Amino acid sequence: MARKTLAWSLLLGMACSIVIGSYEESFPTRTFSSNNYHEAIQRLQSFKASLTRHDSIASASSSLSTFSSPSSAPSPSLSLQGVNNPRVYRVTSYGADPTGNSDSTEALLAAIEDAAKGPSEGYLMEGIRDLGGAQINLEGGNYLISRSLKLPVAGVGNLMIHGGTIRASDNFPEDGYIIDLSPSSNGRNSLPSYNFEFITLKELLLDSNFRGGGISVINSLRTNIDNCYITHFTTNGILVQSGHETYIRNSFLGQHITAGGDKNERNFSGTGITLQGNDNAVTDVVIFSAAIGIMVTGQANAFSGVHCYNKATGFGGTGIYLKLPGLTQTRIVNSYMDYTSIVAEDPVQLHISSSFFLGDANIVLKSKNGIVNGVDIVDNMFSGSNQGVEIVQLDQSNSPFQQIDQVIVDRNIARGMKLKATVAKMSMQGNGTSWSVDFNNVLLFPNLIKNVQYSLSSSGSTFPNHALRNVSENRVVIETNEAVAANVFVTVDQSALS
Ligand SMILES: *[C@@H]1O[C@H](CO)[C@@H](O)[C@H](O)[C@H]1NC(C)=O
Ligand SMILES: *[C@@H]1O[C@H](CO)[C@@H](O)[C@H](O)[C@H]1NC(C)=O
Ligand SMILES: *[C@@H]1O[C@H](CO)[C@@H](O)[C@H](O)[C@H]1NC(C)=O
Repeated sequence: MARKTLAWSLLLGMACSIVIGSYEESFPTRTFSSNNYHEAIQRLQSFKASLTRHDSIASASSSLSTFSSPSSAPSPSLSLQGVNNPRVYRVTSYGADPTGNSDSTEALLAAIEDAAKGPSEGYLMEGIRDLGGAQINLEGGNYLISRSLKLPVAGVGNLMIHGGTIRASDNFPEDGYIIDLSPSSNGRNSLPSYNFEFITLKELLLDSNFRGGGISVINSLRTNIDNCYITHFTTNGILVQSGHETYIRNSFLGQHITAGGDKNERNFSGTGITLQGNDNAVTDVVIFSAAIGIMVTGQANAFSGVHCYNKATGFGGTGIYLKLPGLTQTRIVNSYMDYTSIVAEDPVQLHISSSFFLGDANIVLKSKNGIVNGVDIVDNMFSGSNQGVEIVQLDQSNSPFQQIDQVIVDRNIARGMKLKATVAKMSMQGNGTSWSVDFNNVLLFPNLIKNVQYSLSSSGSTFPNHALRNVSENRVVIETNEAVAANVFVTVDQSALS
């Protein structure tokens, strides 16, 4: 919830115009005198050399460092800074065992502590020290840990943990998370409003060993989880609680390592991702085993390119569960619900589009207090096995839907499943004075027609009077004053768009 957005964008706008202004000043003309030209080339060369120096600093410990030393005189301040202020914390330097044979908890925590307490320049959000892009490098190793990896204090940001495997040991706490972004101690008197900002967890395989979860992100801002593989969790693969803007992308989550059609699928438990906060995004993520793929209880989250084949709905699983009755504010687009359904309780502002539902997977609107408002389910593809499963289904076991407004279910296509919509067209041929067109087969809500349009087409020589008589029970009745052979064409709409 970016409440300060306006002020920030004004500030940013000013900053941008300042930058543009100074850029124009330093390059007033495109024609260089020969002196200017040589200066420019020199500047370019020293810029390139500075890039090379950064490279050589990063690989200073490797034998390649001499190879890449720059030929031009290095700027001492730059290379000294690199040597004296390394921001890459290699966990084996702290005694971590990359073979996974011995416990590396203390070593990993020591590296994390050094990084979190290391040099910083200024602040990100108030109270969040900017660690300048410090990296905890797992060096491609496989590390065993016996308790959660936490940052020692709240109030740091611009930090990355990346590049390896971390496994929970057999005595790992069952309610723990391998990486737990909550502070291990409060450490200061006045805590910042957020624990952490801009923490990146990248290229990690996290194995919870059926003891607890993978990653928890608590009250943090702008967290990246990128290219991670999280498995063997019993609670959540990823838990996000308060804070905002955790971006989970290009990742794979599964309780069991399987590729579908697992004979123990009925026993899958746990949840791939639990979002108990606002403004997060899950993008290009596969959840391949868990009872619930994604559980959402916070608003304004967005899902795109999510593939759920966690536990078939036929076995009691759910792909995406939206448990935000009364204020849902969720977008699901371009996703693949693979035998797993979407369930939404009293949805208010929900958009689902351009998604593929396979194996009788559908969308269930579940009534808690009978409210459904502002729901868009359009342009999706459904494929099933001719069991008569409805593409959108109402669960009114708690109470019937009574407040229905702006619900649009339209332009979906179904194969082997029962199409349901809030907009429908039918035509009917007859010969007589009455036409009754029954829309119950296709309309989503029972006994609800808010708008009708019809035309009556008769090829006879007379011009009969005709009128719409009745729309109750989703049946449109049209009558003529005289018997005629005629076709009626009827369009009905259950949403109340004015
Ligand atoms: C799955 O669960 C059932 C019932 O709890 C149990 O009998 C069965 O052994 C379980 N299967 C596996 C492979 O754990
Ligand atoms: C309509 O019904 C009338 C009376 O039953 C019959 O005479 C007429 O041929 C019918 N017209 C058509 C087009 O079926
Ligand atoms: C409309 O049809 C319903 C039955 O479907 C009937 O109960 C009701 O009386 C009808 N209304 C009118 C105005 O004819």
